[in-house]
Amino acid sequence: MARLSPENLHRAEAIVALYPERRSGLIPICHLAQAQDGYLTEEAMEDIAKICGVSPAEVRGTASFYDMLHTEPVGKYVFAVCTNIACMLAGAYEVLDHAEHRLGIHPGQTTADGMFTLEEAECLAGCDKAVCVQVNHRFFGPIDQDGFDRLVDDLTAGRLDDTVPPHGVLSRVQRQVGLPGHQSSERAEGATA
Ligand code: FES
Repeated sequence: MARLSPENLHRAEAIVALYPERRSGLIPICHLAQAQDGYLTEEAMEDIAKICGVSPAEVRGTASFYDMLHTEPVGKYVFAVCTNIACMLAGAYEVLDHAEHRLGIHPGQTTADGMFTLEEAECLAGCDKAVCVQVNHRFFGPIDQDGFDRLVDDLTAGRLDDTVPPHGVLSRVQRQVGLPGHQSSERAEGATA
């Protein structure tokens, strides 16, 4: 369990300053906390509640509503296998069934070694890649059973480290524009992770 780091507390205060109401910074700060720990810890949700001027229950309610936010620990790599219509027609359930056997877990579960979490997802807006699979929100597809095995092998061997950042990291580049201390409207900079 971890509270927001001093650096992230500072950044969270800068984020809420962007909005007329502090509570409007809730979701961006949830993503900030998730990038820190991979999921939203109880302590981080308490910090977020204080920063945004809402109750911890409101933070939890928001975090539990959105699929992209996790309130429980997840694996280093989170697979989201889309089973919506385009992917279903392309064999998504066969891929999902194969993924369950390959990883030894069901959707919603994490492997014992903490490496992989498996999720069944609604349309990921990657229908042109059916069967579409996301790993830590990065798109892969079309994926069949063999392709899924290659994905697991490549992730395990670290061959996709440049493509797939640690879970929780939405963007390796953090926004700077509009935040205190940023002097111009030039492109955002400041790599993370
Ligand atoms: S139906 Fe699978 S990404 Fe749209």
